[in-house]
Amino acid sequence: METKKLNLAFVYNVRHKKPCLADEQAVAEAEFDEPVTINGIAHSLRKLGHEVYRIEANEEAYLKLKNLKNKLDLVFNVAEGLQNHDREAQIPAMLENLNIPYVGSKPLTQALCLNKAYTKKVLAYHQITTPRFQMFYNPNEKLSRKMRFPLIVKPVSEGSSKGITNDCLVNNQMELYKKIGELIEKFNQPALVEEFLNGREFTVSLIGNDPVEVLPPVEILFDHLPNNLAPMDSYEVKWIIDNPESQIQTISCPAQLDYKKFLQIKKLCLRTKQALDILDWCRIDVRMDSEGCPHVLEINQIPGIIPDPKENSRFPLAARTAGYTYEEMIHKIIKAACDRHNIPLSPALEPAPEKATNWLVKTFSGQKAFKPI
Ligand SMILES: Nc1ncnc2c1ncn2[C@@H]1O[C@H](COP(=O)(O)OP(=O)(O)OP(=O)(O)O)[C@@H](O)[C@H]1O
Ligand SMILES: [Mg+2]
Repeated sequence: METKKLNLAFVYNVRHKKPCLADEQAVAEAEFDEPVTINGIAHSLRKLGHEVYRIEANEEAYLKLKNLKNKLDLVFNVAEGLQNHDREAQIPAMLENLNIPYVGSKPLTQALCLNKAYTKKVLAYHQITTPRFQMFYNPNEKLSRKMRFPLIVKPVSEGSSKGITNDCLVNNQMELYKKIGELIEKFNQPALVEEFLNGREFTVSLIGNDPVEVLPPVEILFDHLPNNLAPMDSYEVKWIIDNPESQIQTISCPAQLDYKKFLQIKKLCLRTKQALDILDWCRIDVRMDSEGCPHVLEINQIPGIIPDPKENSRFPLAARTAGYTYEEMIHKIIKAACDRHNIPLSPALEPAPEKATNWLVKTFSGQKAFKPI
């Protein structure tokens, strides 16, 4: 049996240069996908039986979408957006304008989550734990007396660890103000200063809306990093240390967690999804403080989904650990959007429902607190 074929536009941004700290265009494109990733996703969409129209999210994208409007059932959007600080909202906003259904959150949520400070304000309103923070619009502002070193300085609206280099972890006022000045100038946006949490770090992938499926958490490991690198997922770690040839193990999945702690993290993520009105899929970065209390660091609305397992792409790793094939993972993301829009999709490629819970049993069944769902 075949799935009901959808006419899908697949929208993406393509990386023209490999990530490299010294090259401005490469840093600007760090969030974009490699051609091999884009081909891999398109291939999987076709393998699922869909008709796929590829559209690069450049200045021509709106017209291409408009021309296809009457043909399309749905848009599978992985575009980070071409430029500027609301970029992830650009394609969803075009699709709202054209009234074409698409996978993922609405423009408001996309733009909000790209601004880490606004995100944190919403989280704080909902009493969702997130590190204490202060925004700096210029390097002459005074550090609040509530803020405790060590601190981390980051550009407020970037992803893929852009601007988050090893020296963003600062221990005194001199280092702090030097970094704030550098980042404001380089990224032309305010700097976000947060208290640095030194506990374990996880990234949690979610699929679906009602119900939401929490995939096995991925732990970011810092133990084996060279001594000169701070315990954080910096630009250096993400793009230099963490490569397919590296001998250093930088992530592990499923994270070795006490079941009760897992439930605490799961609840934190589900509350975050609800508070921000996140749709269909996302990946949430969580880090524990020194007492082991989990905090939300930030939300990735359009998580990377590099098909090649050697690349350690976190969302596909979580899905694989749960027992899903790459195509099953993509199908589940599409299905979440189809269910919201009442778009019929044949259940032929539906993964076995036990996969949602098998990994839980395998990971936690030895623990007293664990009760099979
Ligand atoms: N307040 C904090 N305390 C401890 N570590 C932090 C904090 N903020 C950021 N980090 C570290 O820096 C990394 C990158 O930060 P963050 O997730 O905010 O950046 P990003 O560029 O949006 O990441 P992504 O690649 O997920 O898009 C985190 O994964 C974490 O290791
Ligand atoms: Mg992150």
